[in-house]
Amino acid sequence: MAGWFSRLVVAMTIRMPKWFVGWVSRRYVAGNTIPEAIKVMQRLSKENACFTVDVLGEEISTMDEAQYFFDEYSNLIEAIIEHDIDSDLSIKPTAFGLLIDPEKGYTNIKNLVKLAAQHDMFVRLDMEDHRVTQATIDCVVELHGEGLSNVGTVYQGRLFRTLDDIDYLEQKLGPAADYRICKGIYLEPEDIAHTGYSEIVTATNASIDKMLAAGAYCAVASHDKPVIDHTLSALESYGMGPGKLDPRKNAGPSRNGKGPGYEFQMLLGVRGPLRRKLAAAGHKTRVYVPYGEKWYEYSIRRLQENPTVGAQVAKAFLMPWTNRP
Ligand code: FDA
Repeated sequence: MAGWFSRLVVAMTIRMPKWFVGWVSRRYVAGNTIPEAIKVMQRLSKENACFTVDVLGEEISTMDEAQYFFDEYSNLIEAIIEHDIDSDLSIKPTAFGLLIDPEKGYTNIKNLVKLAAQHDMFVRLDMEDHRVTQATIDCVVELHGEGLSNVGTVYQGRLFRTLDDIDYLEQKLGPAADYRICKGIYLEPEDIAHTGYSEIVTATNASIDKMLAAGAYCAVASHDKPVIDHTLSALESYGMGPGKLDPRKNAGPSRNGKGPGYEFQMLLGVRGPLRRKLAAAGHKTRVYVPYGEKWYEYSIRRLQENPTVGAQVAKAFLMPWTNRP
């Protein structure tokens, strides 16, 4: 969709009253509280989905704020266990302080990953903008080095560095590497990232190929047909698919609660029919479920960072047949 239209939608949305933004984002955000998030997951469990939950918020300005995220995620782990939901966690490293105090930020993340490990739960470090790419990768490598293997991160197909980063993790973690691969939501400068749609799709698909070749676990996070179709044919070429043990000779260990070497991931409220179709064909499908008190700040920031999101939301709103939840 044209850039000017995206920017227009963003400019309009950020001037709307909070209740209106809340009304529009209801389909993308599971609510303010843990019980609301649990309720959404219980409903979607009936569609054979599993989950990764994100407590909304990111980049803190004082280390004290990190405590809120640690406490909220700790309560979330308890609720997931209590309600027997098939879910892991997604966290924003900057919400734990990785940018303002790398050492303390690392310790905060480590404490949460340790807590999750006690319940055999996986923690995904979401990838934020390029200021924290290296720190996030280093964090995952260090945690594995300390014996915490229930952690992985996200690579963004749009970044030029991603293919080298896959080599790096292969060298450091071997097939124990567990990725989410997405296009990347941050509009990065053109000296470090692809900026055109087809270049981003090609680069993302090349990353998927490289992850699969490395024997890594590959969670493909996209709603875009060219990426999903590419993944399906790549999986076929490896003999991977629903109900089959991962046949790759260099595959990592089979992972509790995960798919056979791969899974598909989609955002809450986006392209439900496509997700249900993949699930019905037997593929492991995981829904990213954001919730939390900071939903308003989060929604506005996402819109400002990447105006195309605004256009997609407007399209879903005005032409609901293009994107059913
Ligand atoms: P594209 O943007 O081309 O969307 C394809 C189609 O899907 C659109 O035409 C539209 O119909 C629909 N669609 C997509 N997004 C929509 C929306 N918000 N509202 C309505 N319709 C929408 N990024 C990042 O930088 N770091 C991260 O850690 C993550 N994590 C992550 C987890 C999961 C589970 C997903 C699905 C995505 C992410 N992302 C992310 C975001 C990702 O990088 C990317 O920006 C979005 O997924 C949009 O890209 P698509 O591949 O879906 O294609």
